[in-house]
Amino acid sequence: VTVHRSDYRAPDWSIPDIALDFALGIDATKVGAVLSVVRDIDAPVPLLLRGDGLTPAAVRVDGEVWNDWRMEGSDLIVDLGERVAATVEIDTVIDPASNTQLSGLYASGGLLCTQCEAEGFRRITFHPDRPDVLSRYKVRMQGDKAAFPILLSNGNCIDQGEAGSDHWALWEDPWPKPSYLFALVAGDLVVNRDSFTTMSGREVELGIWVRDGDVDRTGHAMQALKDSMAWDERVYGREYDLDLFNIVAVSDFNMGAMENKGLNIFNTRYILADPDTATDVDYDGVEGVVAHEYFHNWSGNRVTCRDWFQLSLKEGFTVFRDQSFSADMGSPAVKRIEDVRLLRAAQFPEDAGPLAHPIRPDSFQEISNFYTATIYNKGAEIIRMMATMVGPERFRKGTDLYFDRHDGEAATCEDFVKAIEDGAGIDLGQFRRWYEQAGTPRLKLSLAEEGGHWSLDIVQTVPPTPGQPEKQPMMMPLRLAAFATDGSGDALADTLVMVTGATQRIALGTFAARPALSVNRGFSAPIIVDFERGPGELAWLAAHDDDPFARYEALQQLMLDTLVAAVSGKAGDNRAVIDAVGQTLEGAASDPAFVAEAVLLPSEAFIGDQMVTVDPDAIRRERLALQATIGAALETKWRAVLAGKAPPATDLSRKAKGGRRLRGVALAYLAATGADDASALAFRIFSDADGMTERQAALATLAHGDSDERIAALDIFYQRYRDNPLVLDKWFQVQAWSLRADTLDAVKELAQHPDFTLANPNRVRSLYGALTGNQAAFHQADGEGYRLIADLVIALDPKNPQTAAKMIPPLGRWKRFDDARAAMMRAELERILARPGLSRDVTEQASKSLLG
Ligand code: ARG
Ligand code: ZN
Repeated sequence: VTVHRSDYRAPDWSIPDIALDFALGIDATKVGAVLSVVRDIDAPVPLLLRGDGLTPAAVRVDGEVWNDWRMEGSDLIVDLGERVAATVEIDTVIDPASNTQLSGLYASGGLLCTQCEAEGFRRITFHPDRPDVLSRYKVRMQGDKAAFPILLSNGNCIDQGEAGSDHWALWEDPWPKPSYLFALVAGDLVVNRDSFTTMSGREVELGIWVRDGDVDRTGHAMQALKDSMAWDERVYGREYDLDLFNIVAVSDFNMGAMENKGLNIFNTRYILADPDTATDVDYDGVEGVVAHEYFHNWSGNRVTCRDWFQLSLKEGFTVFRDQSFSADMGSPAVKRIEDVRLLRAAQFPEDAGPLAHPIRPDSFQEISNFYTATIYNKGAEIIRMMATMVGPERFRKGTDLYFDRHDGEAATCEDFVKAIEDGAGIDLGQFRRWYEQAGTPRLKLSLAEEGGHWSLDIVQTVPPTPGQPEKQPMMMPLRLAAFATDGSGDALADTLVMVTGATQRIALGTFAARPALSVNRGFSAPIIVDFERGPGELAWLAAHDDDPFARYEALQQLMLDTLVAAVSGKAGDNRAVIDAVGQTLEGAASDPAFVAEAVLLPSEAFIGDQMVTVDPDAIRRERLALQATIGAALETKWRAVLAGKAPPATDLSRKAKGGRRLRGVALAYLAATGADDASALAFRIFSDADGMTERQAALATLAHGDSDERIAALDIFYQRYRDNPLVLDKWFQVQAWSLRADTLDAVKELAQHPDFTLANPNRVRSLYGALTGNQAAFHQADGEGYRLIADLVIALDPKNPQTAAKMIPPLGRWKRFDDARAAMMRAELERILARPGLSRDVTEQASKSLLG
C-alpha cells in the first residue's frame, strides 16, 4: 500500500488525554489504555485505532463493556454511535521479549524500553498513532522491584509506592505530545546526575542512566547535554521546559537515538565514551547526537510534524542545528568538511539512484525507509541555504516566528518556509522547489572575457529522478571570490550571488589575466560543480584561497582529477598533487585537524561517483598507487609527524584531536609505501597508545596489510576488549574495511564468530555495513559480496525488517556498474523479492531498487 502526501486529512477524533497502565513483565506486559476521545467532525464516524500485532483483551466505553468494535486487518474500529466524546478503555497484552524488531516495547538484556517513532506505539496499544494527534499522558507502571528497580517515563514522576514485591511509579507529562514521543524504561540502571539552571532560572535535574559499570563513561555526554542546553538558549532563545531531563542508553537500538519528551533513549554508542575505549570521532559523535536529540525538544517536540511526509521539518532543521552547535564547539571549517564529506558519501548517491526522493516525499510504502540522508542531511542543507541567504539575525527572526506561531502544533514544511519568509523578509517562492524536486543540481561553469571584463557563465541542470523526468531550475546562494594569481590587479572579494536560472551570467570584474575562481565557498549550496581548471590553478587555490573549505576543495579536486585520469588509463604527472600535499603539510603545526582532512585522498566510492561506469578494481589500484607515490615522495614529512609524541589521550582539545588525526593519516601514507619498518612502527603505535584513537588508527592500518603484526594486534585487541560490545564492534569493522584481497572470506568467517549476532543492530552494521562501505570488496567481480548482503537481508528480515531494509540500497546502485556486475546485483534483488512473507520495509526498498 502506497500512502500519498496529497491524501492528508485532519483526524476525525482528537485525544486530549491518555492514561496508560503498565503491569510490567519481560515476556508479558499488560497494557491498560484509557483514551478520552473527542469527535472533531459533525457527522458520526467510528473511531479508528491502529494496531500492529495486538488483540484487544477488553474494550469498555464510558465504563461499560462495549461490543460495538471490530478488527479491520490489524486495526481496531470502535463504533461510538452518536457520541461526540467518550472514554474508551482498551486492554492488551504484549510480549517484549519476543519483540526482535526493536520497535514498540522491547527487552534489551533484561531492560524494558520503547522505540515508538515512527509507528511503534501501535505495537504497544491501539491508537490513531499519527503525529497530528497530541495528548497529555499519564503513565502508571508497576513491576517487580528486583527485576525493575528503576521505572521511568516522560515528564515528571508525581507519585510512587510499593505493593508487596512490586513497586510502581506514576509519571505525568504536562506537554501534549504525539504518540511517537511516548517512552518508558524499566530495569536495573545506575545514574549520573547533574543539573542545569535555565536562563529564566528553572532548575533542571539531569540524569544519564546506564548499566552498572558504565557510569564512568557518561561524563562527556553529560557535558555535551549542558553545553547544548546553554547553546540553544543563546543561539535560538529556546529554553528547556520540564524540571527533569533523562537519557537512557540501551545496547540494542535500530538508530542513533530518540528524542522522547523528557526521556531520550540512546544507542549506547552515542552515550558511552572514555579515552581507552572511544576515539575522537566517537567523542564527537556523542556530542553531536546528544545535542541533536536535545534540540528536538523544540524542533520536533514543541513544534512537531503534521504527518510523516513532513519528517524533514524536524530532522533537517535539527541536523542543521546540531551541525552549527558542533561547529561552535570545535572547528567550523573542519566540521563543514566532515558534513560535506558525509553528504557526498551518503546523500549524493541516494539522489542519483533508484531511491531518490525529495526532502518532502510525495509517497511512501513504509515510513521507516525514509529516515534517509536526503531527509536528514540534504534537509539540513536546505535550511542552511535559507540561513545563508538572509544572514544570522534575520534567520533568527524567522525561527523565532516559526516557534512562536506553531508552538504546540503539528506543522508542515510549508509552515517553516512561510515563517522564514515572513520573519526574515525574503521571497522563497522559487526556493520551495528544493522541497519538491529530487536530484542533485549541477552547475556547469565557464569563464568568459570581453575587453578585460570577466564573467562567469552558469548552466544549471537538475537530473531526472524516478517519477520526476522534467525539472525546473533551483534557486541557490553561491558564494564566490576571484583572485589574480600573479598578484596583480584587484581580486573580487567574497560575494554571495543568487543563482536562479537555467542559464545565467555573473560579472566578476576587470582583471589583467584569467582569475582563479573560488566557487561554492563553504559549500554554500548542496550541488555538483563542473568547472574545468588545470592543476596549476587548483594548486594555487589549495595554497592561497582565504576560505578554508575552498582550500580543501581545491586540493580534493586536484587529487580527484589525477585519480580519475589514472583510472581511465591517462596517468600523468603527479608532481602537482605531491607539491600541493607537501605545501599543505606546512600548516600542520598550526591547524593539524584541517591539514589531516585536506591531505586525505578522496574515498574509492567518491572516485566512482565521478565515472559513468564504476571500475572498483581500477579505482582500488590507482588510489593505492597514488597513496604510495605521495607517501614515498613526502616520506620525511610523514615520519616527522609520527616522530613527535602523541598528545595524551585525555587531552580532547581541538589541537590534540587534530594532532592524533594527522598522525593516523601520516601512518596510512607511510604504510602505503611498503616501507620495511612500517608494520613494526604501526605495531609500536598500537602497543604504546594510551587511548583508542591512536590504537584504532594503528590497528586499521595493520589490518590492510599482510604482516605478523596484523595477526598479533587483532588478537591483542580482541582479548583486551572482548567484553566491551562497542569496542568489539570496532574489531569487526576494521576487518571488514580491510583493503586486503581476502576480505570477503574474512567477513564470512567473522559472521560465524561466537561474538557475531544478528540480534544487535550495531554488530550487524559493524560487519555488513562496513563491508558495503568497502567498494572493491563488496563489488568483488564474482558477485560474492552481493550474495552475502542478500543472504543477510533474507536472514535478518523476519527478525528486524528496519535494519534489514537499510542494507539494500548498495545493491540498488547496479546501473552504475558494468553489465556483468549489474546483472548479478539485480539477480540478488530478485532473489530477495522472491522470498515469501517479506516485510513491507524490504519489499519497498528491493522493488524500487530493481526498477532503477
Ligand atoms: N527521531 C530520531 C532522530 O533522528 C530517529 C528516529 C528513528 N526512527 C525510526 N523509525 N527508525 O533523532
Ligand atoms: Zn532527529
